[in-house]
Amino acid sequence: MSRKSPFNTAQNIFTDRDVFDVEGFQPKELIERDEQINEYASALEPVLNGWRPNNIFIYGKTGTGKTATTRYMLDWLRRDIEDHNEAGDDEIDLSIVYLNCEALTSSYQVAVELLNELRDEHEQVATRGHAPSDIYNWLFEELDEIGGVVLTVLDEVDNVGDDDTILYKLSRPEIENATLGVVGISNDFSFRDDLSAKVKDSLCEKEILFPAYGSEELREILFQRAEKGLHADAYDTAPVALSAAYAAQDKGSARQAIDILREAGDIARREDADEITEEHVEEAKGVVERGRVSEMIQGLSPHGQYALHALAIAERRDETPIRTKDLYEFYGSICNQHATDPLSARALRDHMSEIDLIGLATVDKKNAGRAGGKYKQYDLDVKVDRVVEAFAETDAVEVDETSYQSTL
Ligand SMILES: Nc1ncnc2c1ncn2[C@@H]1O[C@H](COP(=O)(O)OP(=O)(O)O)[C@@H](O)[C@H]1O
Ligand SMILES: [Mg+2]
Repeated sequence: MSRKSPFNTAQNIFTDRDVFDVEGFQPKELIERDEQINEYASALEPVLNGWRPNNIFIYGKTGTGKTATTRYMLDWLRRDIEDHNEAGDDEIDLSIVYLNCEALTSSYQVAVELLNELRDEHEQVATRGHAPSDIYNWLFEELDEIGGVVLTVLDEVDNVGDDDTILYKLSRPEIENATLGVVGISNDFSFRDDLSAKVKDSLCEKEILFPAYGSEELREILFQRAEKGLHADAYDTAPVALSAAYAAQDKGSARQAIDILREAGDIARREDADEITEEHVEEAKGVVERGRVSEMIQGLSPHGQYALHALAIAERRDETPIRTKDLYEFYGSICNQHATDPLSARALRDHMSEIDLIGLATVDKKNAGRAGGKYKQYDLDVKVDRVVEAFAETDAVEVDETSYQSTL
C-alpha cells in the first residue's frame, strides 16, 4: 500500500455537504412561497376542526418547491394536531399517507402501492393479476378501517398519464367511517388540462400553482444553503449569484441551482482551492446539464432515444419546430441506421409526449382551423450539443457523428 491515502478529506469548502442534498435536506424556512403556503393552509385548515379538507391540486415545473412545501405543510399539520390533542380538546384523528408516484405509470399501480402501504407486511398484494375493482374495494376497506380523517398525498401523480381513475376514486369516495382528502401534485401542466372533467370538479377544489423561480429567489435559496453548508470564506456573492442566474435562465428550478452550486463546491475541493469561483460555477453548470440530459436519455426506451435523436437532427438543420410527419422521416432514417423497423407515426407521437414530460422537448398542439386541422409540433428544450454529447456517452444507442452528417 502506498503511503498516501487516495482520499482527500480536506474541508476548505463544505462545512456540511448534506445541506446540498436536494431530496434529503428539508429547509426549515421556505423562501418566497408565502402565497402558496397561505393557500395550502386555507385548504387544509378544516382538518384542524376534524372536518374534511379541500381536495388540492398542485402543479408547477420540477424544482419549484412543490414537494418541499408539501412536507413543510404536513409537518405543521401534524404538529398542530398534536398540540390540539394534547390540550385535551376533542381528539382529532388524522392519518397522512404520502406516496411518490415516480415509478408508477397507471392508476392501478398507484392503487396497489397505496394498498400495500396501508396493509401489514404479510398481507401485501401482488402488483399484477388482480381485478382493478378488487384492488379499489380492498383499498377503501383499509381506508375505512383507519377511520378519522385520512389525507392521501400523491406526489408526481402525472406519471399515471391519461388514466386518472385513482384521483377520481379518492376525490369522491363513498366510505363510512373515514373522511378522505386528497392532494395531487403534478410536474406537468398538460396533465392538469387533460384531467377528465369529473376529476377536475372534485380534485381541484383548490388549485395551487408553483411558478418557476427567478434569479433573485434562487439567489436567496442558495444563500440559505450556503450559510448552512459552506465555510464563510469559501464563497462570495458572485459565484452564488451566477449559479442562480444560470438556473433562472434555464428552467427556474431550485433543484438545478442547488446542484450547480454543490458541483462547483466539489470542483473547488478537487482543485484544493480555498474558495468557489465563477469559473468553478461555469464548469459545474456544464457538468450538471450533461448529467441531467444523459440520465434522462438512459431512461428512454430505444425508440424513445431514436425519436430524440431525430429531433436533434431537425434542430441541427434548423427545421424545428417540426411536425410529426417531417420528424418521422428523420426518425425513419435513424431506425434504418440501427437496422430496426420504425414504429408507427402514432407511436412516434407517444414517444415525443414522453420526451416532453421529462423536459427534453416541448410538444405544442396547434390548431390550423378548419382547413389545416389539428397537429402537433415539436421543439428541443435543451441545447442540441448537450444531447449529442449525452448520446456519445450512452452505450444504449451508438451514435457516430457521421449519422448526423449523412443526414445533414
Ligand atoms: N422556496 C424554497 N426555499 C428553500 N428551498 C427550496 C425552495 N423551493 C425549493 N427548494 C429546494 O429545492 C429543491 C427542489 O425542490 P422540490 O420541492 O423538490 O421541487 P419540486 O417538488 O417542485 O420538483 C429541494 O431541495 C427544496 O428543498
Ligand atoms: Mg417533487
